[in-house]
Amino acid sequence: VRCSRLRYLQEFTLISESNNHKSIRTVLPPGPSQFFFYFFRLLSGFSPIRGLRAVIRETSGHQLLEIWNCHGLRKCLNLTALNKHGRVYDDAQFGCLSWSECENKLLYVAERTECLSAGLLFCFFGGTWVPMPNQDRSLYCEDWGEALTNRSEPAICVVDLEIGAASVLEGVPPDVSPGQALWAPGSQAVFFIGWYHEPFRLGLKFCSNRRSALFKIDLCGHCERLSGENLSVSNPRLSPDGSTLIYLQGAVFGPHNQCLSLQQVLYLDLESGETSTLLDVVSRPQFAGMYEALPSCCWSADSQRVMFSSACRNWKGLFLVDRRSKIVTSLSDNLSDSSSQLYGSWKLLTVQRDLMVVCCSSPNTPPTLRVGFVPRAGEAVSWQTLQEPLMTFDFSWKVLDVTPPSDEENANYPGLDFGAVLVKPSRPLGETRTPLVVFIHGGPHSQFPAEWNSTTAGLAKLGFALLMVNYRGSTGFGQHSILSLIGQIGSQDVKDVQRAVLTALERDPNLDPDRLAAIGGSHGGFLACHLLGQYPESYKVCAARNPVINAATLLGTSDIVDWRYTSAGFHYSYDQIPTAEALAAMLQKSPIAHAAKIKAPVLLMLGGRDRRVSPHQGMELYKALKSRGSPVRLLWFPEDGHSLSRVDTQVDCFLNTALWLHQHL
Ligand SMILES: *[C@@H]1O[C@H](CO)[C@@H](O)[C@H](O)[C@H]1NC(C)=O
Ligand SMILES: *[C@@H]1O[C@H](CO)[C@@H](O)[C@H](O)[C@H]1NC(C)=O
Ligand SMILES: *[C@@H]1O[C@H](CO)[C@@H](O)[C@H](O)[C@H]1NC(C)=O
Ligand SMILES: *[C@@H]1O[C@H](CO)[C@@H](O)[C@H](O)[C@H]1NC(C)=O
Ligand SMILES: *[C@@H]1O[C@H](CO)[C@@H](O)[C@H](O)[C@H]1NC(C)=O
Repeated sequence: VRCSRLRYLQEFTLISESNNHKSIRTVLPPGPSQFFFYFFRLLSGFSPIRGLRAVIRETSGHQLLEIWNCHGLRKCLNLTALNKHGRVYDDAQFGCLSWSECENKLLYVAERTECLSAGLLFCFFGGTWVPMPNQDRSLYCEDWGEALTNRSEPAICVVDLEIGAASVLEGVPPDVSPGQALWAPGSQAVFFIGWYHEPFRLGLKFCSNRRSALFKIDLCGHCERLSGENLSVSNPRLSPDGSTLIYLQGAVFGPHNQCLSLQQVLYLDLESGETSTLLDVVSRPQFAGMYEALPSCCWSADSQRVMFSSACRNWKGLFLVDRRSKIVTSLSDNLSDSSSQLYGSWKLLTVQRDLMVVCCSSPNTPPTLRVGFVPRAGEAVSWQTLQEPLMTFDFSWKVLDVTPPSDEENANYPGLDFGAVLVKPSRPLGETRTPLVVFIHGGPHSQFPAEWNSTTAGLAKLGFALLMVNYRGSTGFGQHSILSLIGQIGSQDVKDVQRAVLTALERDPNLDPDRLAAIGGSHGGFLACHLLGQYPESYKVCAARNPVINAATLLGTSDIVDWRYTSAGFHYSYDQIPTAEALAAMLQKSPIAHAAKIKAPVLLMLGGRDRRVSPHQGMELYKALKSRGSPVRLLWFPEDGHSLSRVDTQVDCFLNTALWLHQHL
């Protein structure tokens, strides 16, 4: 009705045992949910000692910083009126809100000045930014690409609550854009991540391979780099005792998303700049490696252990690494035992005084909150569900392990396997055999864990079985799996998905081989269209969201041009000029090369503002199919980006996909 994403707040009160604070006696039942009261907030955060709540919110285009305590609103600064910087960043890439230890200062990241907006240019005069009439209002302003379109030149901003003043922290090297900032112990300096923006900005969303570094800057503007050169780093997290800073690290360029290492800097050693590796990149899994951002609180109270969740084969698991032994242990239920498995996905939200708060779900169980204390060495966590899930849906799911046959092995990375999650409605609607929808994730370096997904659940309720394939190159199978896909897109990944489909059909005679559909977005749309062209007799219908159709023509329009080269197996440097060889390889690996063979009806859903995969990609396929009289339907969403995530758009896409599958299966 509202066409907006509603958020609500629910409070749980946990009462611990009087003789053991690490054990929960009771969870008081929550009252009714309430509308999220600071609904229009951009950022919020609790102060470390007195538990004051800082909120940055926006009302009618103005940004306010509010400080709340148990007596109500204590302070309000009108950041727009102070006019020291542009809009505050609330994204997960740069955004932050950090309280100083003394609770008198806050820092966040904001646009240095609105990028030439309203025809004004801001100049730095006498210690302050002064608006000047802008002669160059048409000057192009670079930004950070898909989903970060309004982010160009971030600055670290410090608010002094005692005097009610905001200021921009000067001294950040001119060739980096700062973000993810936090106070150093003592509040006289700030740690931050700086992303290099010379010679030009490359898209950051879904890319953990951007050149960046960890810096420390003091309030006088003296800045030093703490991490190594030519690396990609992110997620700095300070231990509760202030002794150690951890962060994630990976290589520059190469796969857009990859297995990362966890680094630690001992604060006392900072002067020497010495860092050490706490957890290294994993090539072949026992433990499958780290792939995901750390929650903002991930340390145990004793500053010795770090908890995190990460892709792990077809699951998302919860892990603990001990700084002393560097041993990783799993804290989630036994993930390899799918018979006793209620939750396939464990996401760590926060750790507060050793209480871990986790969001658990599986394909047939919507997300639910669970809590448990960080265990002592060798002990298991005693998990407590705060509220039983509202329901578990009446469809089943299981995980398939797939081994490629010898002629589909990767010569450089032999012996890799992969997996898939199969979801099946338990009562096919009066039919003997169930149609199968192959649902393919994008990236390609991402994952389809056995977690709740409303599209999957909706289609399963409508009587479709779904197969979600984690083809080689997906996260959660080690760095070798990721590297194996470089240069092999359009063949290895296509064969893997097809192999998974054949495996599922073979193992489950109830699935109907004559009613196969392929759906997916981005690289998943690329694969869906490939399946249609390479196996035209197998697939009966397809629905694709912002698919890559012709990698050669995408080269000039994507915000991540480096990935266009890397995925096709070419080296990238900023000054790269396309060659006939590179363009030919990109074309050859693209679905458009097989478009003339496509017979199945195709539904295309395109976002007019997609910066990652231009909507003209889908348009190319649309014309190729139309000119051949092959059935195609195109839905155009002028205001949407790559993810088509506006609420009304999502509804539209789901209903159209369901109807399209229903009609053609
Ligand atoms: C904040 O400042 C802006 C610009 O001066 C002003 O238009 C707006 O009314 C102020 N908002 C509040 C809530 O004070
Ligand atoms: C970007 O900024 C412009 C102008 O301030 C605004 O109209 C637009 O809604 C913003 N876009 C996003 C995606 O925030
Ligand atoms: C940075 O590292 C990448 C690969 O990790 C390499 O291709 C590139 O040449 C390096 N650049 C510099 C300036 O060292
Ligand atoms: C997990 O489950 C698998 C399969 O049932 C079993 O082989 C393995 O021993 C279990 N691991 C643990 C730690 O319980
Ligand atoms: C379901 O999975 C698809 C493919 O990975 C993803 O794009 C989509 O955001 C997911 N939807 C939800 C509601 O999680």
